[in-house]
Amino acid sequence: MRNNRITELFGIDYSIIQGGMVWVSGYKLASAVSNAGGLGLIGAGSMYPEVFREHIQKCKKATDKPFGVNLPLIYPDIDKMVAIVIEEGVKIVFTSAGNPNTWTAKLKAKGIKVVHVVSSIKFALKAQQAGVDAVVAEGFEAGGHNGREETTTFTLIPMVKEHLEIPLIAAGGIASGRGILAAEVLGADGVQIGSRFAVSTESSAHIKFKKMVTELQDGTTQLTFKELAPVRIIKTSTIKNC
Ligand SMILES: Cc1cc2nc3c(=O)[nH]c(=O)nc-3n(C[C@H](O)[C@H](O)[C@H](O)COP(=O)(O)O)c2cc1C
Repeated sequence: MRNNRITELFGIDYSIIQGGMVWVSGYKLASAVSNAGGLGLIGAGSMYPEVFREHIQKCKKATDKPFGVNLPLIYPDIDKMVAIVIEEGVKIVFTSAGNPNTWTAKLKAKGIKVVHVVSSIKFALKAQQAGVDAVVAEGFEAGGHNGREETTTFTLIPMVKEHLEIPLIAAGGIASGRGILAAEVLGADGVQIGSRFAVSTESSAHIKFKKMVTELQDGTTQLTFKELAPVRIIKTSTIKNC
């Protein structure tokens, strides 16, 4: 993607963001993506606070390019995580799974760029009103937790685009140059990619998980826990030698 509002916002070469992923995106993956000109995010959701601090410190040593962290706001020790972000001088925070009103102003007061992940127009506007710098609009084909609305990425992006003034990042089901181009045509200023990065060498996912995800065909994942906290899983019936 050419220079645009996302490359300018973060000071990166390509408007490609590696999504924060529990158990998957530590400093190795985040720094590799940032070194390659995208934006790598350390996924804080599976880390104890001191482990999180260690990953930030290692990431600072592994890259002199911009990188960020993903903070799921439902994290029990979220206040400790925010304190670490500020103490360690992290400049970019992607928040998810919670109310953007709670932390956005506090983070921005420290000069931190804040982006919030949403799954609907309503929540995109709420995030914009909370003062975030950009929004990730994620369709329900995405890996990880999904919105209850079950809206697909390529229907969500043009709808959100019509209403949003701040930069828009598309996520969910994007894993190739063609997907990135399609998202851009529909109005996205950048993309956030998860599963494709989860299977990369630098990801901390288990090699069996990487192999399994790489070999999956259509119809082999499904949304579960729809009422409680929808999450996309691989159907065990489709896994060979599990
Ligand atoms: C294994 C895995 C773990 C994830 N963990 C998180 C997380 O902790 N916080 C978050 O905001 N999103 C999380 N996500 C979502 C990603 O950041 C990203 O938005 C999503 O994977 C994009 O869809 P894609 O997998 O189709 O590329 C996770 C995704 C995966 C695959």
